[in-house]
Amino acid sequence: MVHIREAKDGDEGQIKELYTLLSPKDDYPVLTGRIQALAESERDYLLVAEVDGRIVGTLTVNVCPNGAFGDLNYGVMENFVVSSEKRGLGIGQSLYDYAYSMVKEKRCSKLMVLTLSDSKAAQALFQKNGFEADGSVGLKRYMTDELEG
Ligand SMILES: CC(C)(COP(=O)(O)OP(=O)(O)OC[C@H]1O[C@@H](n2cnc3c(N)ncnc32)[C@H](O)[C@@H]1OP(=O)(O)O)[C@@H](O)C(=O)NCCC(=O)NCCS
Repeated sequence: MVHIREAKDGDEGQIKELYTLLSPKDDYPVLTGRIQALAESERDYLLVAEVDGRIVGTLTVNVCPNGAFGDLNYGVMENFVVSSEKRGLGIGQSLYDYAYSMVKEKRCSKLMVLTLSDSKAAQALFQKNGFEADGSVGLKRYMTDELEG
């Protein structure tokens, strides 16, 4: 049985292990203070999926206000991963369903995600849940090298 909840103190190590699956060459400094801040935020959710007391999946979703559509917001998802041995069991779908219910509650009119072109499982999951490119092109600019400190 999978249990979806927000991350809490003590989850750092298991979340970091999952992030490493996204890109083994990258370091993922998962900070206790950041997990606390996310847990306290009413707009940002670092979700984890737990099975038998072990964290086996994670997804971050952020609710972003904008000025274009009255009091409506939009949502963005990032860092979606399920442990290799637990894939195909519905855990990713459960994380997504939870995120979707959070953004709906926060009056989001749109939910967005970027996937790498070879992330076929993620694309299939999102398409199954109504996502489409809709003429959009996703662009990113990494700024890590420009940050001070
Ligand atoms: C994407 C990912 C999180 C999906 O998690 P999961 O728990 O395996 O997914 P689920 O079992 O909940 O599958 C839900 C739906 O996704 C689709 N799906 C999942 N895995 C799939 C695969 N290997 N091939 C095709 N479709 C797949 C199916 O539509 C499935 O529904 P179905 O079982 O009714 O057919 C997981 O594959 C993963 O961690 N991938 C590596 C990291 C990654 O690419 N992250 C995405 C970054 S945006």
